[in-house]
Amino acid sequence: MAKPGFFSPLLLLLLFAIFRATLSTNSPDIVSDQTALLAFKSHISHDPHNLLATNWSSSASVCNLIGVTCGSRHHRVTALNLSSMDLTGTIPSQLGDLSFLASLDIRHNSFHGSLPTELTSLHRLKYLNFGNNSFSGEIPSWFGYFTTLQSLYLYDNNFTGVIPSTFGNLSKLETLSMHNNNLQGKISSVIGNLTSAVEINLTYNNFKGHLPSWTFDNLSKLQLLHLRENRISGTIPSSISKCKELWFLSLNKNSLEGSIPIEIGNLTMLEYLDLGYNNLNGQIPSSICNLSSLLGLSLFNNNLDGAIPECIGSSASSLVYLELGENNFHGKIPDTFAQVCTLLSFQISNNQIEGSLPRSLVNCKDLKLLDVGNNYLNDTFPAWLGNLEQLQVLILRWNRFHGQVGSPEVTVSFTRLRAVDISHNNFSGYLPVKFLKNLHAIREGYEKKDKQEYMEDVLAFGTWNYAFRLSFTTKGLETEFEKLLTIWTAIDFSNNQFCGEIPKTLGDLHSLIVLNLSHNCLIGPIPSSLGDLSELESLDLSSNQLQGRIPTEFTNLGFLEVVNLSHNDLKGPIPKGKQFDTFTNDSYIGNLGLCGLPLSKSCGNDEGTRTPARLDKDGDDDDDDGINWKFSILMGYGCGLVLGLSMGYIVFATGKPWWFIRIYERVRQRCAKR
Ligand SMILES: *[C@@H]1O[C@H](CO)[C@@H](O)[C@H](O)[C@H]1NC(C)=O
Ligand SMILES: *[C@@H]1O[C@H](CO)[C@@H](O)[C@H](O)[C@H]1NC(C)=O
Ligand SMILES: *[C@@H]1O[C@H](CO)[C@@H](O)[C@H](O)[C@H]1NC(C)=O
Ligand SMILES: *[C@@H]1O[C@H](CO)[C@@H](O)[C@H](O)[C@H]1NC(C)=O
Ligand SMILES: *[C@@H]1O[C@H](CO)[C@@H](O)[C@H](O)[C@H]1NC(C)=O
Ligand SMILES: *[C@@H]1O[C@H](CO)[C@@H](O)[C@H](O)[C@H]1NC(C)=O
Ligand SMILES: *[C@@H]1O[C@H](CO)[C@@H](O)[C@H](O)[C@H]1NC(C)=O
Ligand SMILES: *[C@@H]1O[C@H](CO)[C@@H](O)[C@H](O)[C@H]1NC(C)=O
Ligand SMILES: *[C@@H]1O[C@H](CO)[C@@H](O)[C@H](O)[C@H]1NC(C)=O
Ligand SMILES: *[C@@H]1O[C@H](CO)[C@@H](O)[C@H](O)[C@H]1NC(C)=O
Ligand SMILES: *[C@@H]1O[C@H](CO)[C@@H](O)[C@H](O)[C@H]1NC(C)=O
Ligand SMILES: *[C@@H]1O[C@H](CO)[C@@H](O)[C@H](O)[C@H]1NC(C)=O
Repeated sequence: MAKPGFFSPLLLLLLFAIFRATLSTNSPDIVSDQTALLAFKSHISHDPHNLLATNWSSSASVCNLIGVTCGSRHHRVTALNLSSMDLTGTIPSQLGDLSFLASLDIRHNSFHGSLPTELTSLHRLKYLNFGNNSFSGEIPSWFGYFTTLQSLYLYDNNFTGVIPSTFGNLSKLETLSMHNNNLQGKISSVIGNLTSAVEINLTYNNFKGHLPSWTFDNLSKLQLLHLRENRISGTIPSSISKCKELWFLSLNKNSLEGSIPIEIGNLTMLEYLDLGYNNLNGQIPSSICNLSSLLGLSLFNNNLDGAIPECIGSSASSLVYLELGENNFHGKIPDTFAQVCTLLSFQISNNQIEGSLPRSLVNCKDLKLLDVGNNYLNDTFPAWLGNLEQLQVLILRWNRFHGQVGSPEVTVSFTRLRAVDISHNNFSGYLPVKFLKNLHAIREGYEKKDKQEYMEDVLAFGTWNYAFRLSFTTKGLETEFEKLLTIWTAIDFSNNQFCGEIPKTLGDLHSLIVLNLSHNCLIGPIPSSLGDLSELESLDLSSNQLQGRIPTEFTNLGFLEVVNLSHNDLKGPIPKGKQFDTFTNDSYIGNLGLCGLPLSKSCGNDEGTRTPARLDKDGDDDDDDGINWKFSILMGYGCGLVLGLSMGYIVFATGKPWWFIRIYERVRQRCAKR
């Protein structure tokens, strides 16, 4: 039996009042939130995982919907997070009715179209992430109404046009991320007014104009500034030193000129300074020595000259990347690499550096890449580098190194080396058997072929973007590599004075892809063991005094694309079958004793399976593949033909050609001398 007192009319009235109150304050608004979300759902045209289709039903409670967060006090939708759901759709105007929304995250989907003006009602918005979608059109000027906005991510879309001036109203904005769009306009009108900015990322756009001194006047909180790959010109203003908190600065691939301001030394928090691929000139300011936290420094591809400051080496106690290549630096590399040297990569190619390779580099135990190519270094072979167990890429090309490639100082040395280029020096003596035997990485093939890993992944550290290119001769072409696959292996000993026979053990380097021993004084037969180099794509033994026959084992080299055996004393028939049917005369000229196709000299009984008509046409009726082979050969061989051709492993630089021209000139000079 119920207790009548308990259900007294007064109490019922009270309960009813409470119920009504709840209804009137919350229900209509949560209902409008629900309407807005269902409108949003109806604009989703593709939901492959059926996430919203099943979960966002009209009967479910709004705050329980996937991706929805409600405020604990008002029970209104405060956050919507639909990131990485593979959704395709557009943004409906009703989304503007989520009037309590503070955070909207729809990154990593395929939303497209333009943004409805009604979104301006979202005046509580602090976090907005539309990154990695397919939005296009101009960025609406009403973004300037989001005066409470702290984080705005519009990166990886297809926004075009200028950033509206109303962005100057975003005085609370801490993060502005718009990289990878097609935005343009003056850079100064974008960043100067964002007085709360901590991080600005405008990488990969088309911003132009210069950085006026006042740009940095009020950016005292700025920590990261990414302006890489735009078209910013003029000088780097000294006022940049007002950004006292700055620890990341990338101006890579712009058109900046003038000298590096000495005030840069005031940015004592700086860890990454990337000024590569600009037109900066003058010397490196010595104030750079005050940047004791510096981890990465790139001045690659500028017009800087003068000497390398002594401190560069000693501050290498913190430096991880040092990229000084393609400038006009001269003098010596300071022999001041700190006892505890943390360098992973040291790149100083294409300068006018003299003297010897600093012995203190041996302190840099983690060094993976050393490129000192195209300088005037005068030294003997740095066998002591064999102590650097991590070394993978060693480039000494185009210098004045001389003497024998001596025995390494330690028994296990150069074991991880997979790309070594000591070409165009004055090395002499026999080919270094012991050195070659030690190249375990090339022999065993540490790297898995199916693993698409690039050198930049190997060198990855923090937020640094590997920003230089390497240059190798492969398949007869001087080739610039902006990315280098870790499975890529190369030995280039060409244009030295290596004499004697080619050691048989070379055939043990099973993962070798590029072998160039051309322009030496090698004698004797080509060892048939070279037929074991099953990964080989490019073989150049030209301009030596090699004798005997071309080993028939060479037909096993299934990946061989380019072969050059010209200008030797080879004789006998040219092997037939597979790749060997695609090589042309150029591969063999200058060997009086060779016979058989593609040469016009027949070998007598061996030959004759093909008609002379075919011979005359010289492969004019080649299929597509044949034409391709031929194209690379024609482009590649012969002095002075220094051309780039995309070939699987390479990604070309589209930048300035002057360096290229310089190489070209050097090659031409060499050729002229011959
Ligand atoms: C929707 O998803 C949320 C979060 O995964 C879950 O808690 C809720 O029960 C789901 N609702 C329905 C109706 O499936
Ligand atoms: C949205 O969800 C993803 C995945 O759970 C998470 O990584 C991200 O931080 C969330 N976004 C916001 C703004 O909290
Ligand atoms: C962009 O989003 C897609 C999914 O829509 C994802 O596969 C891809 O990794 C994302 N890209 C980046 C750079 O995060
Ligand atoms: C970006 O927009 C331009 C011009 O509107 C268009 O030509 C281009 O195809 C778009 N790119 C992508 C990736 O959507
Ligand atoms: C935003 O900035 C513009 C000038 O660019 C100004 O006219 C407008 O009043 C500002 N709006 C708000 C809401 O502050
Ligand atoms: C941006 O700053 C400049 C210089 O102080 C000022 O003239 C301009 O009005 C500001 N723009 C906005 C939109 O606040
Ligand atoms: C800045 O943009 C670059 C280039 O797209 C990107 O790799 C990097 O992750 C971005 N950094 C941040 C912090 O958004
Ligand atoms: C920097 O801030 C000061 C004080 O608020 C202001 O007077 C000046 O115009 C601002 N400068 C710029 C370039 O916005
Ligand atoms: C900034 O650097 C210059 C030159 O190195 C120096 O004279 C000046 O005192 C520094 N300013 C501050 C505020 O540290
Ligand atoms: C390094 O910083 C100190 C202290 O701020 C300063 O006195 C000195 O001039 C700076 N050195 C250079 C080369 O700028
Ligand atoms: C290399 O240095 C040695 C000794 O310093 C000198 O005799 C020689 O001429 C130099 N060689 C070249 C090519 O500069
Ligand atoms: C190269 O070395 C040989 C001796 O091995 C020497 O005769 C010759 O002058 C050197 N050439 C250059 C350019 O240093």
